Amino acid sequence: METTVMVGLAVVATVSEPEVVIRLENVSVRYRVPTEPVGSFKEYMIRRLQRRVNHRDLWALRGVTLSVRKGEIFGIIGRNGAGKSTLLKSIARVLRPTEGRVWVKGRVAPLLEIGAGFHPELTGRENVYLNATMLGHSRREIEARFWEIVEFAELGDFIDAPLRTYSTGMMARLGFAVATAWEPEILIVDEILAVGDEAFRRKCQARMEQFRQNGATVLLVSHNLAQVQAICERAAWLDRGEVRALGPAADVVRRYQQANV
Ligand SMILES: Nc1ncnc2c1ncn2[C@@H]1O[C@H](COP(=O)(O)OP(=O)(O)OP(=O)(O)O)[C@@H](O)[C@H]1O
Ligand SMILES: [Mg+2]
Repeated sequence: METTVMVGLAVVATVSEPEVVIRLENVSVRYRVPTEPVGSFKEYMIRRLQRRVNHRDLWALRGVTLSVRKGEIFGIIGRNGAGKSTLLKSIARVLRPTEGRVWVKGRVAPLLEIGAGFHPELTGRENVYLNATMLGHSRREIEARFWEIVEFAELGDFIDAPLRTYSTGMMARLGFAVATAWEPEILIVDEILAVGDEAFRRKCQARMEQFRQNGATVLLVSHNLAQVQAICERAAWLDRGEVRALGPAADVVRRYQQANV
């Protein structure tokens, strides 16, 4: 009898699933889009009180079910407007799904839009403090990492210039450098690497790879299919809010390409 139990346990150990850190169950997100132009916020409120605002429902996500495992780089691909950013926002808790459930285990560092969490009139330095504080770090922790962040972003003297003088790529560099200065448990990257030059993209890719090796999970939205194929284990293809394919990144990319020729 005892032997049987031992064998049973051994089997359980070898076939046990990798740990899931993000789980979406039947997630749908509805946006309400006004069907006619509304001039000002005041006008909108008046018309709303009078019940004269007509809305159209737009389902940006429909019944999305997927799991992301600890320690994987998971890609999300799909055409413009497919719902990729909406998916990331519901994982980052920026918006609450209209239906379904989102379950996340671990500290999330979201990089949702270029310049999100940054202030244009503040300098790069001030923005590092602002952004890192929002990510939950103390002044002391930020001071200790400050030069590492500047060095990774390769901003030089620009670090003391207001952010409005930065190029899009420079803003993306600073955003990535701050969000990854402390190893997050879950890193969410929405298309931010697209504006970086080749050298910077490679540097970011190496850093994500290193996180993954240390057990962090990365969620990456990208239109760069070669990059998704190169660095993601698995991927999902979103099509008009629905999951069209889910599995090994190479397979999903191939199916997406075949459907889009
Ligand atoms: N705040 C909003 N209010 C109303 N509709 C929205 C809002 N945000 C997004 N949408 C709509 O939801 C759909 C999905 O948008 P989303 O930004 O998630 O697409 P995406 O896959 O990230 O596209 P892209 O590749 O262009 O970044 C689109 O039709 C878009 O118009
Ligand atoms: Mg998007």
